[in-house]
Amino acid sequence: MINSDNVLKFPPGFLWGTATAPTQVEGHIENEWTSFVAQDGNNCKIACDNYHRYPEDIDWMSRLGTNAYRFGIEWSRLQSAPFAPLNQNELARYVDLLDRLRAAGITPMAVLHHFSNPPWINAAGGWTNPATIPAFVDYVRKLVAAIKDRVYLWNTFNEPDTYACVAYLLGGFPPQQRWKLGQFRRVIDHMARAHAQASRVIRREGHAGRKPEVGIAKNWTFFHAYKRFSPWDRATAFGCHYTFNKFVLDAFLGGWRRRASTYIGLNYYGRVRFHHFRAMIPASGTPVKDIKDVGFVCDDMVERYPEGLGKILGYLRRKFRLPIYITEHGAASDDEPFRELDLQQNLQALHRSMSEGTDVRGFFYWSLMDNFEWQFGYTKKFGLLAVDFQDPKLPRSLKPLAGVYSQICRDNSIRVSP
Ligand code: BGC
Repeated sequence: MINSDNVLKFPPGFLWGTATAPTQVEGHIENEWTSFVAQDGNNCKIACDNYHRYPEDIDWMSRLGTNAYRFGIEWSRLQSAPFAPLNQNELARYVDLLDRLRAAGITPMAVLHHFSNPPWINAAGGWTNPATIPAFVDYVRKLVAAIKDRVYLWNTFNEPDTYACVAYLLGGFPPQQRWKLGQFRRVIDHMARAHAQASRVIRREGHAGRKPEVGIAKNWTFFHAYKRFSPWDRATAFGCHYTFNKFVLDAFLGGWRRRASTYIGLNYYGRVRFHHFRAMIPASGTPVKDIKDVGFVCDDMVERYPEGLGKILGYLRRKFRLPIYITEHGAASDDEPFRELDLQQNLQALHRSMSEGTDVRGFFYWSLMDNFEWQFGYTKKFGLLAVDFQDPKLPRSLKPLAGVYSQICRDNSIRVSP
């Protein structure tokens, strides 16, 4: 990483990618989100129609100059009952997608669970039911056998913390339960056990050309009190940190379980600060004016906190000594210069941490395109590509940030002001 002329270089072979999730982009899906009506009155029935347009979307990735793509494989498409054989038509579509990525020189990272389950899993209690573990491992075994020569980067669970929290504590995701702390803990425990077993399958099965890599994507949010001397806000922040960060990391990576991962996936967006018990972020419904009044810089979701990226990377490096991928980072806003600044600041923090010795192997921008942002519908614009959801043809177009990111990917470096 030679730094010259205000250019910060990344190591050769660094992965520069984009990320998506099946429910958010594919459309034509049968899971718990199919009949879910988001806050904006919309649903994910068509989403970005990536189910049909994936060849075009891969062309967009090539135009961007990215060399990696993190995407989900939707369990509900592939198995219609526990331990059933995989649906060959749906499998063929994912195989075609992988072949097209390979032809375009784009390394795939396959995500096996991203906030959705097949209907028969949900009907039996989802991840609160321990019987989901062997069902998932069976699915993974069959999937790995089918695509192991096309994929070496595996991501078992995306943000188990967010999934268990928003589905069982905050009521935002199906099954929309509230304050069921026991269920939250059970979901995390079952997912952690499923991760360990699936990881064994993935590593044992091997890969035709390259050793498989497997990990989860952990969302890391910093929780702080707005006023350092407010005992109640400090207690709330500590409770959130303990439940969503510490408890979840221990479940997946504590003790012997560290061996179940060959890397750590980090999804990093920023920080939540509490003021009189209120989370001062747009995503929790706090009016933007109140947030501006206290002087916080937020996108349309959470507070931006680029220096936090260096802190969490350093912590993970010291604690686990595993390679890291930034499996998601992005900002939702219509303000493109703001998004550009956010990207620059976070990549500078990333580069600084790498110079200090953190072994980070790739960065995936969330997201390739504007998409269905779960309970918020289509109101949060995270895309490098805009999608015109008013037009039935769902045309994609490049946003200004796409040009900036594209230059970074092609140069494998960022420029900083002198
Ligand atoms: C999730 C994505 C989501 C993004 C932005 C992450 O928590 O993995 O599915 O769209 O953050 O909120």
